[in-house]
Amino acid sequence: MSGTGATKPGAGKTVIVGAVRYAELCGSGRDLLVRNGFRLIENDSTVPWTPEQIGAVIGTADAAVAGVEVYDASVMARAERLRIISRLGVGLDNVDLAAARDRDIDVVNVPGGNAAAVAELAIGFMIASLRRMTDMDRAAKAGRWDRFVGHELAGKSVALVGFGAISRMVARRLSGFDVDLVAYDPYADAAVADALGVRLVDTLPEAVAEAHIVSVHAPHTAKTHHTVDDRLIGAMRPGVIIVNTSRGGLVDEEALLRGLESGKVAGAGLDVFEVEPVAAGHPLLSHPAVVCSPHAAADSYEAYERIGLATAQAIVDVFSGRTPSGLANPLDRVSV
Ligand SMILES: NC(=O)c1ccc[n+]([C@@H]2O[C@H](COP(=O)([O-])OP(=O)(O)OC[C@H]3O[C@@H](n4cnc5c(N)ncnc54)[C@H](O)[C@@H]3O)[C@@H](O)[C@H]2O)c1
Repeated sequence: MSGTGATKPGAGKTVIVGAVRYAELCGSGRDLLVRNGFRLIENDSTVPWTPEQIGAVIGTADAAVAGVEVYDASVMARAERLRIISRLGVGLDNVDLAAARDRDIDVVNVPGGNAAAVAELAIGFMIASLRRMTDMDRAAKAGRWDRFVGHELAGKSVALVGFGAISRMVARRLSGFDVDLVAYDPYADAAVADALGVRLVDTLPEAVAEAHIVSVHAPHTAKTHHTVDDRLIGAMRPGVIIVNTSRGGLVDEEALLRGLESGKVAGAGLDVFEVEPVAAGHPLLSHPAVVCSPHAAADSYEAYERIGLATAQAIVDVFSGRTPSGLANPLDRVSV
């Protein structure tokens, strides 16, 4: 992979690494860049670069490993040498794709690179809610040996809202749990659903009607905003558990709270919220039937290794005269 001496593709080239904790989490990717002769300028703090900080280094950059720092038109205008922005993740809302295109800068991301991590957390939320794991944890640590009678996943019906990369991984992993799987996705691949034993239905209310657990895996768009609202919760079976690891806007939090208060919704597992970070005192945070995480579903060491390597490889490819895989299409990648 790496060249030798002056033939190394990164010789004389600088990669700016805005992504935080890169050396710690993306060792293989970092090694690949170093082995190929690139000089790295890394963000060694734990917070994203400010516009001033990125402004100070962008002029020297031939490539960027981007975290969530912003590459807008004004940054791009100073990026005299920049050939590629390689996004350490999926979301591209911090990159002005049109400005990049105007300057012939490739933008690459890694769709699906963290899908396994998200899928596993979604299943974790399902089991945590069914078994009241947070209650049990608090009780045991406080020395209370109460009986906590929960539910098994086996024999339950799980509805998947959206049947894309993450949802399919959830389905594959749940196949060992003896559950009944149903999905709603207007663009679903019927053959994949069939192979995974997932029953596709034509409407959302139909998907959730019999489900013990509803797990949300669709993108946030104008169309999917507040997909889980009072009406949809009304169509669910009493005692349903709702899991959201997609985007906060998919779930109307007021409606979810009403569902939890009335007992119609027995529990919720939430990685994402309508406004993040969630304000202290938000009633969902203190609700005993809610288990949550701070938008961390994608954060596994394995996922960082995978996407770290993919982003570094894309940079090596560009400077070796190859087309990098994962080239972002501005038209269909902005919403995820
Ligand atoms: N929590 C996290 O850290 C984290 C990490 C990665 C992705 N995500 C989010 O998870 C979601 C799913 O990601 P993915 O990688 O599986 O995306 P994906 O694009 O592979 O799948 C999304 C699926 O949703 C379907 N869909 C579109 N509109 C729909 C609708 N109205 N109703 C039902 N389904 C619809 C699409 O057809 C597609 O199959 C996205 O919102 C993504 O932003 C969250």
